[in-house]
Amino acid sequence: MKNKTIIVSNRLPLNVSLPENEEENEIKILPSVGGLATGMKSIHQNSDSLWIGWSGIATDDIDESTRNKINKAIQQQKCISVDLTQDEVEDFYFGFSNDLLWPLFHYFTEYTHYKDEHWEAYKKVNRKFAEKVLEYLEDGDQVWVHDYQLLLLPQLIKEAKPNVSIGFFLHIPFPSYEIFRVLPKREELLKGMLGSDLIGFHNYDYERHFISSVSRILRYDVNFNTIQVGRRKVKIDSFPMGIDYQKFKEAAIDNTNKSQEEKSQLKVRLEQHLQVSNDAKLILSIDRLDYTKGIAQRLKAFEYFLTKYPQFQEKARLVMLAVPSRENVPQYQRLKREIDELVGRINGKFSTVSWTPVWYFYRSLPFEQLIDLYTSCEIALLTPIRDGMNLVAKEYIASRTDRTGTLILSEMAGAAQEMSEALIINPNDSNQIAEALKVAFEMPEEEQIMRNKFIQKRIKRYDVEKWATEFMKSLEATKDLQKEKKTK
Ligand code: ADP
Ligand code: G6P
Repeated sequence: MKNKTIIVSNRLPLNVSLPENEEENEIKILPSVGGLATGMKSIHQNSDSLWIGWSGIATDDIDESTRNKINKAIQQQKCISVDLTQDEVEDFYFGFSNDLLWPLFHYFTEYTHYKDEHWEAYKKVNRKFAEKVLEYLEDGDQVWVHDYQLLLLPQLIKEAKPNVSIGFFLHIPFPSYEIFRVLPKREELLKGMLGSDLIGFHNYDYERHFISSVSRILRYDVNFNTIQVGRRKVKIDSFPMGIDYQKFKEAAIDNTNKSQEEKSQLKVRLEQHLQVSNDAKLILSIDRLDYTKGIAQRLKAFEYFLTKYPQFQEKARLVMLAVPSRENVPQYQRLKREIDELVGRINGKFSTVSWTPVWYFYRSLPFEQLIDLYTSCEIALLTPIRDGMNLVAKEYIASRTDRTGTLILSEMAGAAQEMSEALIINPNDSNQIAEALKVAFEMPEEEQIMRNKFIQKRIKRYDVEKWATEFMKSLEATKDLQKEKKTK
């Protein structure tokens, strides 16, 4: 049999939804939301791979027969589930991963909470993942571990199977040394990552921060982008994650070719707004509901824009889609309440009989409706306070097949480094966002087309497939790095 790649991430690319009542007995398998899952899914579908991860359900919530049904449904998609109990979900997922690592790596140090029991659960669950990987690992296979929930996993696999090639990719920022050093257990986490042969980040800044943390905390020797770990060499490099460009382009072409009868209700309603006047525009905002995304600041900036430039009242509508995320973490609950209040305040203050300034959806949408939004909104307003990459920005530009549209993008998103032709703003500066909105409203079509042409060319060439191939090629090349050492 051909060698396979074992992809490992906490979240599988699918989410299991259990029946809500007695009459319904069907288990639903829905796609997961989030850059890691949507990006890697295209790679997984077209390659010889097995994906190991968590199904999103705590196992003590279900009986044996439901568990078997879930596993069968998951396996049909070449996925294997790691079972987590309710306590593990609480302490490993909501606790150490999302109440400590996530805020810290995004520079929200005031949101971090460390607890010993969370750390114990983090170690235990990483060991659980290691056991599952070892169960499915065959000679010649390679392992690709993803993201901050599994920082200890590479070392655990390497200790058990020293010859196996292990790649690790971090989908979120790696913070500067001054932030990272605050973390209890920082040595253990770095050593865990260094069990890999190749460690990848979205960009050079994150790579640089990691190398600086390793040399200052562990005092390991670093030679350019290679770290000496005992007798092994570990390579560090950057690979900016791309999207499935062709998929978005084709879906957008189908979408714009639809006859009036074929259009979804959402699309029809969006287009009705554009008919209000020649210069009416829809402004798109899409994220998981997360404090790193700057959603509350974005709403305040939109309110400021409507106040400062009243000529855009009745013409501007913010279509805001927020996907529920990590609802057990108090910061997310507080943010949800703040956003509800802000939307209510803005709509209450400015609405007229024929116009509501903010259209707010708090749910996940099927892919076709996401494309309805990308193709109907002439402006995208994406203003994260910190974001490893932000794939939504790339998906938006890929879906603008006639190249019109203006992207307003935060300089704090990794994607901004590849999209300098967008209107790049500081997400904390309401005035700058308001000015960018005005520029976007008034930008001539030729200028929009010219800017997007360059971005499209770039994101088409470096799509998600290219990203994965480059990573895998680089992982393969690390084998030569180890040989170099042996022959010296
Ligand atoms: P993050 O990984 O932090 O969630 P990204 O912008 O990198 O942020 O990735 C988000 C992914 O989730 C994108 O691929 C996007 O298409 C998808 N997504 C976002 N919102 C929705 C939604 N409401 N319904 C379905 N998919 C969504
Ligand atoms: C980001 C992270 C992923 C995570 C996703 C969704 O993209 O980098 O690791 O899976 O958000 O978050 P969740 O907590 O629902 O898995």
